[in-house]
Formats: sequence, structure tokens, C-alpha cells
Amino acid sequence: MKRIFSGVQPSGNLHLGNYLGAIRNFVALQNDFDCIYCVVDQHAITLWQEPEVLRQRTREVTAGYLAAGIDPKTSVIFNQSQVAAHSQLAWVFNCVARIGWLNRMTQFKDKAGKNREKASSGLYVYPNLMAADILVYKATHVPVGEDQKQHLELTRDVAQKFNNDYGVDCFPIVEPLIQGAATRVMSLRDGAKKMSSSDASDAARINMTDDADAVAKKIRRATSDSEFLPDASVVGPDGQFTAEFRQARPEAANLMTIFAALKGEELSQAVAEFEGKGFADLKKALTDVAVASLGHMGAEMKRMVNDSHYVDSVLRDGAERAQALAEPIIKEVYDIVGFLRP
Ligand code: TRP
Repeated sequence: MKRIFSGVQPSGNLHLGNYLGAIRNFVALQNDFDCIYCVVDQHAITLWQEPEVLRQRTREVTAGYLAAGIDPKTSVIFNQSQVAAHSQLAWVFNCVARIGWLNRMTQFKDKAGKNREKASSGLYVYPNLMAADILVYKATHVPVGEDQKQHLELTRDVAQKFNNDYGVDCFPIVEPLIQGAATRVMSLRDGAKKMSSSDASDAARINMTDDADAVAKKIRRATSDSEFLPDASVVGPDGQFTAEFRQARPEAANLMTIFAALKGEELSQAVAEFEGKGFADLKKALTDVAVASLGHMGAEMKRMVNDSHYVDSVLRDGAERAQALAEPIIKEVYDIVGFLRP
């Protein structure tokens, strides 16, 4: 049986990029695989988090998983800090991964910014913890976005080096699961930038908890251009917009990509529907699908976050199940490494 592991950080508002780029795929995978979905609170604190806000956001991501349709009976849903095996294996991996590997991680460079000396050491070894998240369950497949591919590569290197150094066949070499059309959801204000929870302008993103009015308003105000919408010649053989089109008309590309993804149709079909029309038509149709699919989810998330008993009980149960899966693997690793058992 293939085993899936993935995680979302509780470090900002959940937005449409998280939904279409990750969470929606998690839902689809649970029918075919054994799935473990984590709220990675330990990764979140590699950058400063206010404790009360972190607690709130951990519940919010959990509620997002549930509202989107992840079934806590079929899949395991839990928060990382509740299962000690993640940190236990991460320490072993801190001693397997090489500093040279970590120095090549582009996300560290981006997140640490100019003042690298002041970045937390956790931010630096973050990829080792991510490798531990995955390998502590011997997961074989990891759905991730483009921005996490380098970390997954490192996970493969860590598994390989561990197996080689100790002469064992302990860890699988994980495969990324490449996701469908709308992996890249861009800002509503600037189609060249990713939609992000850290964007100063809330109008740049659609939050999973936005109500119908907010969604409609943000789409209405989204940046547009003044040309007519294109014909099918801007869709490449891979079913995505060509790089030239995305560069020339990033806003048109973004809104049409989001529309097709929410509607669950091929991009070429969406393009055909809007060929020769203007942005106003697209925005109206997009508002309708967005409100229809997100409105209900947002309301459910709010309800769950306000009465957190259910969310907390899901996390408690998930942690127990995750712990039971991880425990024999940690024992195996400790034996391999030469740690004495009590
Ligand atoms: N680093 C991922 C992100 O920021 C989150 C993450 C942590 C993750 N551990 C993981 C994703 C394991 C997949 C598998 O998006």
C-alpha cells in the first residue's frame, strides 16, 4: 500500500492557494491511499509565532482539512508537536544531512533574508524535520507544490545516506506527487506574485474563511487588463497556459486558472467559454463558482473554530494513531543507530 504524508503550516490564514494547491488534492487522495495529514506547528515556530495565534491557527488548519472533506476516520489528521517521534527522528537526521546540502536550500535563503546571522537555527534545519515527518511513517508519496520539491529531494538524499551509512534498507525513497492544474494560484492584485498569507494586502488573497460578500468584492476588485480573453492557442500541449501568455497577461491567466480549477474542468474548456469576452464576464462567472464552492467551507470552518471541541478531539485521536504508526519505526532506527533501549 502506498502511504501518503503531507503537511500544512499553521503560520497564516488558509487561502485559495492552500486549498487548490494542496488541501483539495489531499481530499482526492484519501480514497486510493493510506493518508496522513499533519498540521506542522513545529515548522511554524522556525519563524516567530504568537502563542495564542499559533493555537488558533493550528485549529484553523485542522478545520480547513475537515471542511474541505478529509475524513478523520479514513485519514490520520494530527498536529506535529503531539507526536514526539518527529523530533526524535529529526535529531538523527541532523546528524545524517550535510551542512553543504542545507546551504543549497533556496527557501532558507528566501526566508532568512539579508540578516542570515539572526535566523533561527530551526529555520536552517527545517528540511531535516520535514524529512523526519515523512520518513517516520516510511511514507512513499508526498503531494507538494513546486516550492517544496527541493526539500523532497533532500528527503531522498537523507534516506539514501542513512541506508548507505548503516548498510540497511530502512527508508523508502519518496516520490513527489505532482498535482493538477491550479498548483500555482497567484495574487489577485499582482498576477506575477504567488497568493500568500504574508501579503500585506488582504485583497490579494481569498481566504478559506471569507464569506460570500468578501469573495465577491475581492474578485470584483482583482487586477485586470483591458484586452479580450484569448482563444485556445494560449493553452500548451500540457493543458496549461503557455509561459508567454502567463508572462504577457498574468492576471487573465490567473483568474482563468482559478476558474477552471474551482469548476473542475479542463483549462481549454474554460478558455473556450470565455474566448472573445471581457474580464467582467469572467469575474462574474468566477464569483459564482467561488462562492458556491468556498462559501460553505468557510462557514463550516468558522463554526468548528468557534467551538473547538470537535477539532480538538480529532487531533487527539489522530495523534494517538500517528504515534502508534511511528513508534515501531523509531525503535527500528534507534536499534540501527546503536542507541541502547531502556
Ligand atoms: N514545508 C512544507 C510547507 O511549508 C510543510 C511540510 C512540513 C511538509 N513537513 C512536510 C509538506 C512533509 C510535505 C511533507 O509547505
